[in-house]
Amino acid sequence: MNADLTSLRSEFPLLAAAPQLHYLDSAATAQIHRAALDAVVRHETNRRANVMRGTYALAEAADLAFDQARQTVARFLNAAAPDEIVFTSGATASLNLVAQAFGNTLRAGDRVLISVAEHHSNFVPWQMLRERTGIELALIPVTADGELDLAHLPELMGSNCRLVAVTQCSNVTGAWTDVAAIVTAARKVGARVLLDGAQAVQHGPQDVRALGVDFYAFSGHKCFGSGGVGVLYGRSELLAAMPPFLGGGGMIGEVTFADTTWAAPPQRFEAGTPPIAQAIGLAAALDWMMTLDWAQIHAHEQQLCGLLIEGLQRIPQLRLLGPAAAASRAPIVSFDIEGLHPHDICQVLDSRNLALRGGHHCAQPLLAALGVEACTRASIALYNDEADIRALLDGLAEVRRTLT
Ligand code: ALA
Repeated sequence: MNADLTSLRSEFPLLAAAPQLHYLDSAATAQIHRAALDAVVRHETNRRANVMRGTYALAEAADLAFDQARQTVARFLNAAAPDEIVFTSGATASLNLVAQAFGNTLRAGDRVLISVAEHHSNFVPWQMLRERTGIELALIPVTADGELDLAHLPELMGSNCRLVAVTQCSNVTGAWTDVAAIVTAARKVGARVLLDGAQAVQHGPQDVRALGVDFYAFSGHKCFGSGGVGVLYGRSELLAAMPPFLGGGGMIGEVTFADTTWAAPPQRFEAGTPPIAQAIGLAAALDWMMTLDWAQIHAHEQQLCGLLIEGLQRIPQLRLLGPAAAASRAPIVSFDIEGLHPHDICQVLDSRNLALRGGHHCAQPLLAALGVEACTRASIALYNDEADIRALLDGLAEVRRTLT
């Protein structure tokens, strides 16, 4: 590990307290950074009050901290304005929000285009919308490597496509999506683009304007913040044209028995008490992320990913899923070992302090396309090092000794 990165592990309380742990499940949940945890504790200790309601000093301090958190997220995403940031409970809620609220502006026969590589959270909400409204749902297929096959994009969009909703990078194969190609094709037919950034955010700040997308969703727990908070970015004119998703306090203009008017975004989409401390913790994590040298971190993550792929390729009866080149993927590596169930593999690895996820990874259509029911996944984040990769490769040698 590069000299500047060696101390990173010590900045994560759980990893600092468990030197024996090889945590290789950051695609499921990244460890929380000390700055995020401290910010949550500081807020709960000194400024805990509800937001956008109270007029006493404590509530105003909470309001200010919550507003600042929104501004930080806007900076992390390079959004045009903080009002384009909606706090949700996670990426799943953000994606459902678009499916419900933007979905309510669609009519039977309008098309939504998703891909085979989607996490269920960007798959099922669109099927539910199809049931409810009669939209057409179309699928971008994947290549044998699990990359989105964009060869027939114009035909898949047709002329009635209103939204393309795709992952920025697969939670199973790590394959990056060619977002520019999708945005260009979508613009030609006037379709909007929703990007599921859940797996991308832990690999660096994003630029929604450079990406050219209309909506962007992510979760706090995947970028070194706490759980229970997520973000939906939406272009302001689109949010303004969308009806609310949930009704309740904080999202109204005026309520009478006869009628209710809506608050302007983002409050229109934040019914009820928002995840205040979690949003403040998330902002601390993002502030910390924005101080890092991401070129150096990407080189480090890719080096580990390459080392892992090389080692896996030497294991008999092991099939690597996804692109073979480390540079074509985020550092997420899934594999299948003939005759062995991923849960058994993960159990043996767990006995050696290796934390990996095995199963269908909430991406059953992708796994079906790749011809497997389940697989084992190692996901690498900035705090991992070569010792983690060596421990995994040694652990897999033990798996083969004990299970085959
Ligand atoms: N979406 C998370 C994963 O891929 C939970 O594990």
